Amino acid sequence: MSHIVIEGGRRLEGTLTVQGAKNSVLPILAATILHPGRTVLRGCPHLSDVEASIRILRHLGCEARWEGEALTVDAGVMSRGDVPEHLMREMRSSVIFLGAILARLGWAEMSYPGGCELGPRPIDLHLTALRQLGAELAEEGGALHCSARRLTGREIALSMPSVGATENAILAACGAEGETVLLNAAREPEITDLQDFLCAMGCRVRGAGSSTICILGRRQTRDAVHTVMPDRIAAATYLAAAAAAGGEVELRRINYRHLSTVTAALHEAGCQIAGGEGTLTLRSDGALRSVPTVRTAPYPGFPTDAQAVLMAALLRSQGATVFVENMFENRYRHVDELRRMGADISVADRVAVVTGVPRLCGASVRATDLRGGAALLVAGLAAEGVTRIGDIHHIQRGYEDPVRDLGLLGARITLEEE
Ligand code: UD1
Repeated sequence: MSHIVIEGGRRLEGTLTVQGAKNSVLPILAATILHPGRTVLRGCPHLSDVEASIRILRHLGCEARWEGEALTVDAGVMSRGDVPEHLMREMRSSVIFLGAILARLGWAEMSYPGGCELGPRPIDLHLTALRQLGAELAEEGGALHCSARRLTGREIALSMPSVGATENAILAACGAEGETVLLNAAREPEITDLQDFLCAMGCRVRGAGSSTICILGRRQTRDAVHTVMPDRIAAATYLAAAAAAGGEVELRRINYRHLSTVTAALHEAGCQIAGGEGTLTLRSDGALRSVPTVRTAPYPGFPTDAQAVLMAALLRSQGATVFVENMFENRYRHVDELRRMGADISVADRVAVVTGVPRLCGASVRATDLRGGAALLVAGLAAEGVTRIGDIHHIQRGYEDPVRDLGLLGARITLEEE
């Protein structure tokens, strides 16, 4: 098993170009099958979750080919509509293929995605939306059979603005007769990126970024080229790293508006931040102070995916910061690992209180999930001595090459392959 080894205590200086967004490219890869032709995704990040999506596309009979940072998908031929269990297990968000396969073939089969490291992650909202479009769903021994002689557009109100359910509903609605109006939709920027991609492909989708999204189904599709939006969570991670370690970092290929709640918190903590078109600069002397309560919420609220990295940045701050995790049940698994480095964090249910300590000490730790793993990178950079992070496959799901990127910023960081 590989490890990431960090010798902490060095300031970060330099410029970094932010990778394409994981949470954007995954639904877009599922969406490529709506078009029986070629689509090119530029700025596609090389991530293990992207490779997992490619394996699903190939299993379905589609072709996918890398050329540098561009991924070309040819879905001219799609010979199957099932996703076997071993591919579903690799990545929970493969459930987004459900709506897309259904729209393309009129049926789909996949295993039920189980719980994951963040606690139970039900898909009831996804299934309700598909049923409302006319799909029949049957569950049998952990397998989902989904069929629709015909999908029909209609008004659908989500009981909660789930990101995945919004994406699944949009993709299925692209294959439905007439107009679908999706109410209480998620407003995350990744939904807007999906809409942009679908429109480039000839689909008619509007309203993304607001709570009401309209989809006019069964449009003639065409070959398309799309550039994946920058990853706001990877950006938040590198900002948190520079805040914690101290230094001055400029991020390029970024939409600073997507990061407003994260930069507001880092500003409160004492960092100087300046955003321009496509860039963001953060300066920190590494001596941070606590910030007002951080409550995770759907966009435009504070992103749950940035909770762990902000927490890691504040471990050495003056004072105490309260975190309230409102999105997922089991999202403090990084806390025990951070404690091994000397962090003072108490957790009760959804609330975590971080009391700043004067110093952190490098330790042997283990990534427990993707963003929890990223928090260990941030803490390791701010700690004295050597931090050795195991189970880094979690980190590789969402970060293209953190060793390269943080190394470029002057961190002493290496990948120890075994
Ligand atoms: C997506 C992101 C993930 C991010 C999350 C919230 C991707 C690949 N993943 O996950 O990184 O942390 O949004 O911003 O884009 N829920 C239900 N029933 C459902 C669906 C969701 O109860 O049918 C609940 C979930 O358990 C969770 C909450 O709704 O508590 C939010 O989940 P959702 O917005 O669906 O997140 P994901 O799409 O899974």
